[in-house]
Amino acid sequence: MKAIKVGLLGIGTVGGGVFAVLKRNQEEITRRAGRPIEIRVVADKDHERARKMVSVISPDARVVDDAFSVVNDPEVDIVVELIGGYGIARELVLQAIANGKHVVTANKALLAVHGNEIFAAAQEKGVMVAFEAAVAGGVPIIKALREGLSANRIEWIAGIINGTTNFILSEMREKGLSFAEVLKEAQRLGYAEADPTFDVEGIDAAHKLTIMSAIAFGIPMQFESATIEGISRLDAVDIRYAEQLGYRIKLLGITRKMESGVELRVHPTLIPAKRLLANVEGAMNAILVQGDAVGSTLYYGKGAGAEPTASAVIADLVDVTRMHTADPEHRVPYLAFQPDAVVDLPILPIAEIFSCYYLRLRVADKTGVLADIARILADQGISIDALIQKEPQEGEDQADIILLTHKTQEKSILAACAAIEALPTVQGGMTRLRLEMLQ
Ligand code: HSE
Repeated sequence: MKAIKVGLLGIGTVGGGVFAVLKRNQEEITRRAGRPIEIRVVADKDHERARKMVSVISPDARVVDDAFSVVNDPEVDIVVELIGGYGIARELVLQAIANGKHVVTANKALLAVHGNEIFAAAQEKGVMVAFEAAVAGGVPIIKALREGLSANRIEWIAGIINGTTNFILSEMREKGLSFAEVLKEAQRLGYAEADPTFDVEGIDAAHKLTIMSAIAFGIPMQFESATIEGISRLDAVDIRYAEQLGYRIKLLGITRKMESGVELRVHPTLIPAKRLLANVEGAMNAILVQGDAVGSTLYYGKGAGAEPTASAVIADLVDVTRMHTADPEHRVPYLAFQPDAVVDLPILPIAEIFSCYYLRLRVADKTGVLADIARILADQGISIDALIQKEPQEGEDQADIILLTHKTQEKSILAACAAIEALPTVQGGMTRLRLEMLQ
């Protein structure tokens, strides 16, 4: 049986995992794919290290340092792009497609930002672009959304799709530490990058959410319209107060289809502590998908790491191997919906979204303060769900008030917060976090 030939761009952690799993499970993978899958050539800037890695696992594979020679190599059927970023990776993927090669990529940033261009080019050439590894590592969420749930009208998705931030939030809650303290420890343990911006500011999660939103609703990638708030300004005191009220704070990616458009937002979110999602701890990922027919489904697993991510890359290699002789129109569409059925629904501005809210403010402990706050909320049509007032610390005459609201529109809460902050009895700014019941 003639092997399908793969060219690998980048042999870091995930590339090493792909080699290892392909070799270890070669027999089973071949039985599934129908023919052997062989990595014939690897391109990596660090030629020496790549050569050492490859010579141990697969001495027949060639190692080169020019990635363009791989995408231009007539022997290569599938290019696996594991370089990351949207600079050279975009050029290489487009060149591979132009040469009629199928592409497997783990690159969420590339797809979220340039996916529309890449899929259009791939459609034109009749090649596949597979990307299971781009969202939640080893969790087969792309397969579930594109195929397993295709009977459903998907209503919303809420996911913990960044392991680094989930690890940090778990540690902050369990140990009562600040964001800065936990980040330092996470960096020491190798859970967080030296420059953690993409993870802690929610950008990585927004890339993944953009991809899920596109295939759930059949809309183009619209990363530039996502609302993105990370966890770096989250105060440990809010994690504690949330817990006292029966909630946990998670960095959630939320996308919801509304009549007028789609919500696409990443931010710290209070969720009821009894929800399964609230109990996803450490670096794990979990995605809750609400379909009209199936109801709620939950997908849980490792969102990163050599072999979990390799599991997703190889599943894509198997899919491409099975389908590469099929007519392009008989394959699963890139965005789950047929290309001519993709609709240009707008992403809703954040002021238009609906959510419940957690508010924390410090007030002078005087008669009528609470009544003023309640009146402002009522004027905006906002209903209070729960409220606690902390006794002032000894010797102080100010108290913390924590309020939970029922569902309201973001623009109403913004107007209410501005009016509350203007009260002479309110000290400093308010903390405002979104709260989702996930029902
Ligand atoms: N940095 C990501 C995370 C993994 O922490 O989940 C790769 O997307």
